[in-house]
Amino acid sequence: MIKTFGIIGAGNIGLTVARHLLKAGYKVIISNSKGPDSLKETILELGSGAIAGTAADAANADMVLLSVPWSQIGTLAALTDWNGKIVIDATNHFISYAPDFKVADLGGKASTQVVSAAIPGAQVVKAFNTLYFKILGLDPKEGNGNRVIFISGDEAATKKEVRQVIESLGFAVIDLGTLAGGSKLQEPKGAVANVNLLKLE
Ligand SMILES: NC(=O)c1ccc[n+]([C@@H]2O[C@H](COP(=O)([O-])OP(=O)(O)OC[C@H]3O[C@@H](n4cnc5c(N)ncnc54)[C@H](OP(=O)(O)O)[C@@H]3O)[C@@H](O)[C@H]2O)c1
Repeated sequence: MIKTFGIIGAGNIGLTVARHLLKAGYKVIISNSKGPDSLKETILELGSGAIAGTAADAANADMVLLSVPWSQIGTLAALTDWNGKIVIDATNHFISYAPDFKVADLGGKASTQVVSAAIPGAQVVKAFNTLYFKILGLDPKEGNGNRVIFISGDEAATKKEVRQVIESLGFAVIDLGTLAGGSKLQEPKGAVANVNLLKLE
């Protein structure tokens, strides 16, 4: 079982996923751009199981969550040797926010393919990027159903590991296929963007 998650990006999405992980008993290393000292209050608020680290510390954890702004993807390569590392990409390729919400022109590539190319050798699964963080932060169990997290990725074994982790947090998982195909459905304006779905038991 995965023990320690490295969270790169300690904002809305990073901390929301961290709270779910901690509740399920995982350990998390939280990192941002300002460094561990800036995260003292955050770590106190998160409680037992959370520590602050550098982005490189987080990149060297058992499993990594990317939750940085799109503009920061180019900073990731230098953090570690990504070869073989399991990485969950929760980013979206926004280059501006309200009111225009512009996305980067990726020449037809899926944004997670671009992320994957930026961290060579990593086994990347796209997940946790389709829901507004306040919805994602709710209890995943609602009535007799479980909130759905969509995933996509190119390695079946990696997706299986990521699926097991996400299910252990109380979510249901729907696998949309490969990065080239499925992950595009998860992108802004994609078919499952902002879709808050419950899988009934
Ligand atoms: N907000 C949502 O509801 C939502 C939903 C789905 C997906 N997303 C995606 O998730 C990503 C993060 O969004 P957010 O709303 O969580 O953003 P956010 O609240 O602005 O947080 C971004 C975090 O990334 C950190 N960061 C910035 N540059 C970094 C770097 N080079 N290395 C390490 N950490 C760095 C920031 O730290 P500093 O403050 O120290 O710079 C901050 O902790 C984006 O790609 C976004 O599109 C967001």
